[in-house]
Amino acid sequence: MTLGWKTFTASSMKKISDYKNLFECERMARGSSRTVFSLVHHPDLVMKVCEAGDWSNVREWEIWDRMRWCAFVADWLAPCEAISDDGTILIQARTRPIMNADSYPLRVPSWATDLKYSNMGMLKGKPVFHDYASNLMLEVGATRRMKKAKWENRA
Ligand SMILES: Nc1ncnc2c1ncn2[C@@H]1O[C@H](COP(=O)(O)OP(=O)(O)OP(=O)(O)O)[C@@H](O)[C@H]1O
Ligand SMILES: [Mg+2]
Repeated sequence: MTLGWKTFTASSMKKISDYKNLFECERMARGSSRTVFSLVHHPDLVMKVCEAGDWSNVREWEIWDRMRWCAFVADWLAPCEAISDDGTILIQARTRPIMNADSYPLRVPSWATDLKYSNMGMLKGKPVFHDYASNLMLEVGATRRMKKAKWENRA
């Protein structure tokens, strides 16, 4: 492929069974549709578990899987590593809490939505979305266009 998009290879995909004992975990947080666990054997990852019939994990995975090669989108996202066949378990890079409101970006991509503080965390020194199940990519595209961020303090 050209244009900076790397070719997808099935062998680069990880499976849930590649992770060591996911049962050794601790509940970290709960959102409206998902419970998030830290993993004893994988401190840099989280496990996000959604109820059967909720597709947040699948929507997040789909965005990551399609956009991971596109730096101007992927740089805003906590990378996903694996998803279970039924979509109930998602393995994602673990972000760290953003301590200072001033560290939240003043401008975000036009496709970003659900702009509440709890949907972003810090990864490798940069703020990224760890909840991007809701996004406007279908509406506005995976564009470089930016907009002013109106951050909300709701749960
Ligand atoms: N990758 C991550 N690393 C660290 N913490 C995370 C990560 N993903 C989620 N969290 C924590 O878990 C909480 C719930 O996760 P998330 O927002 O993805 O779930 P949700 O059910 O989709 O939430 P919402 O109520 O916003 O719809 C987040 O607010 C955050 O505190
Ligand atoms: Mg959330």
